[in-house]
Amino acid sequence: MTTTITLVQGDITHQSADAIVNAANSSLLGGGGVDGAIHRRGGPEILAECRALRASRYGRGLPTGQAVATTAGRLDARWVIHTVGPVHQGPGSDPAPLASCYRESLRVADELGARTVAFPAVSTGVYRWPMDDAARIAVETVRSTPTAVEEVRFVLFDDRAYQAFARQL
Ligand code: AR6
Repeated sequence: MTTTITLVQGDITHQSADAIVNAANSSLLGGGGVDGAIHRRGGPEILAECRALRASRYGRGLPTGQAVATTAGRLDARWVIHTVGPVHQGPGSDPAPLASCYRESLRVADELGARTVAFPAVSTGVYRWPMDDAARIAVETVRSTPTAVEEVRFVLFDDRAYQAFARQL
């Protein structure tokens, strides 16, 4: 089956999709950016599940490059898939952990049976990954990952991010 990649400019918390990906941090306990917006709009149920995950599977936090799902609370989605992007370390930063975020999120989406998945531009905010490079890694990884997900939707917050992803398609 082929996966269609679509681009949307806007706020990911206003999207309707089977799964919405969160650019989280290892603590899974919230933060700013996409993470803050998802917990604010999604409500306390998501954080409650994140706390339960910390108490059970991820006592030391979710490692960079991995992904885990919770309920989506009040969001128009069935699941939130939390993934932890890498912090950019300057020129020559290893792209593998960022690629892993997309691959692992799709693996979790497949386990759940999600058909539509909305991704933000992971690591391009607080974690400072340059937008063009992040867009290339995101698109190349989705294109090269076998998955039953039918639509991968990149939801870009501003025009600059949207144009960076558009150049990759
Ligand atoms: N919808 C879509 N995109 C958004 C939204 C939104 N509502 N809000 C911001 N963006 P960031 P990171 C864009 O910082 O770099 C948090 O504190 C934003 O413009 O959310 O992976 C976490 O808890 C940028 O292009 O995630 C972690 O500590 C992109 O989403 C840390 O930030 C990602 O920005 C993760 O940093």
